Formats: sequence, structure tokens, C-alpha cells
Amino acid sequence: MYFVSNIVKVTIPNYLASLPIPDSVGGWFRLGVRDWLALIPPTLVVGGISYYSYQTIKRANEANKVNLSVKKDIPKVVDFIDIEDITEKVSLCRCWRSKNWPYCDGAHGGHNKETGDNIGPVVVRHKENK
Ligand code: FES
Repeated sequence: MYFVSNIVKVTIPNYLASLPIPDSVGGWFRLGVRDWLALIPPTLVVGGISYYSYQTIKRANEANKVNLSVKKDIPKVVDFIDIEDITEKVSLCRCWRSKNWPYCDGAHGGHNKETGDNIGPVVVRHKENK
């Protein structure tokens, strides 16, 4: 534990204190080649951590989305189906994977197999066709 404590409390602060970071904006223009070279490693570390954090947040946001491909060019997907147009029954997609949106095309089967989910369509039917 002493090793970690020493790195956090001594080594890293000493390293940061030794970096040639100027006290003013004009100081950046007076830095020499050695100074700029000394700033490359910490810049790469900070840039790498920032990029990795951004990618992690971006992936987490994508993983939270339900709709991955249906009408992505509009702000909200709303579909209307007139009940009079349903002759017998209609299966409506609830998994958002159908290529025949808003109707179920069986794509939920692949989604369920891939994720262990149990999503299926909602079937709308006339009472006399039960
Ligand atoms: S394809 Fe989405 S519920 Fe069947």
C-alpha cells in the first residue's frame, strides 16, 4: 500500500510540479522545444482518458436506446392504423427491430435469441376472430 500511496502523494505531484506550464498566456510562446516535448506525455494521457471516457459514455447511451433503426430521421415515431383497415388481425412490433415497421416481421426472434429477452408482438384482432 505504501507504493500506491507514494505514487499518489509524492511521485505524481512532483512530476506535475516539474512540468513547464507557464504562469501566463504569453509564457506559452516562450516555451522551448524541450518544454514542448516534456508536455507531450501528460497531454497524451489527458487526451486518452478524455477520449476513452467520451467513447464509454457514447456506448452507454447507445446501449440505452430501444429504437436502433426505425425512422431515425424524425424526432418521435408515431404510427396510426385505422381499426377499420384491420380485416382479421394484425401483429404490431414491440421490439423495434422489424424491417416492416410498425408490423411484426419476426425479427423479435433474433433479438430474443441474441439478448435472452422475451419480446413479442402485440396482436390486434377483431372480437369475432378470437
Ligand atoms: S419484429 Fe418486433 S415484435 Fe416482432
